[in-house]
Amino acid sequence: MISIAFFNNKGGVGKTSLVYHLAWMFGELGYKVLAADLDPQANLSIMTLGEERLEALWPDDDHPETVFGAIQPLFGGVGDVGEAHVEEIADRVGLLVGDLALARIEDDLSTEWPRCLEGRERAFRVTTAFWRVIKEAAERCSADLVLIDVGPNLGAINRAALISASHVVVPVAPDLFSLQGLKNLGPVLRNWRSTWKDSCQRSSLPNFPLPQGSMNPIGYVLMQHAERLGRPTKAYARWQERIPEVYREAVMGERLPDPRPSERDPMQIARIKHYRSLMPLAMDARKPMFALKPADGAIGAHQTNVRQCYEDFRKLAQEIAIRAGLKKGEAA
Ligand SMILES: Nc1ncnc2c1ncn2[C@@H]1O[C@H](COP(=O)(O)OP(=O)(O)OP(=O)(O)O)[C@@H](O)[C@H]1O
Ligand SMILES: [Mg+2]
Repeated sequence: MISIAFFNNKGGVGKTSLVYHLAWMFGELGYKVLAADLDPQANLSIMTLGEERLEALWPDDDHPETVFGAIQPLFGGVGDVGEAHVEEIADRVGLLVGDLALARIEDDLSTEWPRCLEGRERAFRVTTAFWRVIKEAAERCSADLVLIDVGPNLGAINRAALISASHVVVPVAPDLFSLQGLKNLGPVLRNWRSTWKDSCQRSSLPNFPLPQGSMNPIGYVLMQHAERLGRPTKAYARWQERIPEVYREAVMGERLPDPRPSERDPMQIARIKHYRSLMPLAMDARKPMFALKPADGAIGAHQTNVRQCYEDFRKLAQEIAIRAGLKKGEAA
């Protein structure tokens, strides 16, 4: 199963927006996509579904149709994970609906993680709950790939989400905080990967399938905020220059060759422009920025930006497909 998590421990760097736009773009390119909202803030679901639909999916009592609903029996101690509802959000694009209630399982996930190293059955069931729900749903809808959105932290929910990911894409902005995020994230990813590998060797469940937890970093997406807060572009250029080195050291555990190569950093998958006014229009129309029509308010110069945005995301999706070894029609 090709499953790609979009992850940076710095918040607000564009993870959810990337998952949202890429899910649509992969669908547009003919891939069958499953987007999984594993952020307890559920921004991907809020962005994608209207208030009316969300009210139906999040009633006052149980939420059987969300990701939380699918794993609740296991965490409630009365069973195992069930099937999750897949919400169709576009042609060939389904969504595993997020839920604020996911925050409730953080403690359980945290407790059970070290117990995997002891080979305990419940520990493996709990730690792989997301992966099992995603895998079943991806197989049910013959998805070619899964895109996973997570929150901006290094907690137990994200660890369980990342264990489900075969690949990781890191959105990064050219600023101090984003670089700090990279420095935190790299060693943590390596630790999760190796601990999971050790745990799998101690599993006492020979017939219980486990994710590989490869979390293979396929590169970063540079989110450009050239004029954010009215600061000069020069300040961002300084941070931008440091990204290749910090990414390579922190995430890959390698040093940049000396002298530094002069060509574009091969770990940079793409740059995505900050399409300032297109985003609010896209949110209102509940569609990607690159699908905005004049009737949605994208008139005049906006249409040029819409076309450029389409090209940006098309190239980004194609590059991710190459790096992740994705093939159309090869169901996850
Ligand atoms: N390419 C873009 N063009 C314009 N606005 C963008 C772009 N990418 C993200 N944004 C805006 O930036 C803000 C943060 O983006 P987003 O919510 O995707 O970040 P995030 O990393 O998922 O945040 P969190 O860490 O809170 O989950 C949002 O208001 C979003 O609309
Ligand atoms: Mg987000």
